[in-house]
Amino acid sequence: MTLDPGYFDAMYAESADPWGFATRWYERRKYDLSLALLPRPRYGDAFEPGCSIGVLTARLAVRCDRLLACDGAESAVEQARWRAPGARVERRVMPRDWPAGRFDLIVLSELLYYFDDADLARILELTAASLRPGGTVLAVHWRHPVAEYPRSGDEVHAALADLPLTTAATHCEADFRADVLVAGDPPSPAAAEGLV
Ligand SMILES: C[S@@+](CC[C@H](N)C(=O)[O-])C[C@H]1O[C@@H](n2cnc3c(N)ncnc32)[C@H](O)[C@@H]1O
Repeated sequence: MTLDPGYFDAMYAESADPWGFATRWYERRKYDLSLALLPRPRYGDAFEPGCSIGVLTARLAVRCDRLLACDGAESAVEQARWRAPGARVERRVMPRDWPAGRFDLIVLSELLYYFDDADLARILELTAASLRPGGTVLAVHWRHPVAEYPRSGDEVHAALADLPLTTAATHCEADFRADVLVAGDPPSPAAAEGLV
């Protein structure tokens, strides 16, 4: 079963930042590594579902012309609006409230293991269908097992690998995995600056 939004509301009722996104060195380092994998310095339209309290959102917003971020938990949405004024932050429950439109960047960070098979398949389908040509997906997930989650981070990334997208970059270590997938040929940041 997909984890119910009430599961996350209860977490935010206990703590404003249940995972320590704003305070842990682990999280800051993970965000640094993940953002460094993005092949382009800037993106046009970006979408970040499951943005939580907006720590990553604030960092994404400075690299995007327009960023739509959303979360199913109202308390998280309120914090993200304050922390990331450069983003449009809305309360939306995935996959039901997936936005219309096409994006140059979709960020799926610490989100996809909460969904059952049908919801995960729908989100992956929507992700691929919502990318513009050359569009990019950044996916990042914790690799250690969590009893309440329907699947592991490694299982999420195995499912992502089945999408009709090209892997542009991968970072895998004991705690998390990050993949950058693109619609089209693998980008070369060196070629983009005339180095090759
Ligand atoms: C671990 S946090 C994600 C953190 C954030 N993406 C980051 O990397 O900093 C997971 C977030 O996903 C949200 N979430 C879980 N299921 C959701 C759903 N079906 N729709 C929208 N948000 C959801 C939770 O409310 C929670 O804030």
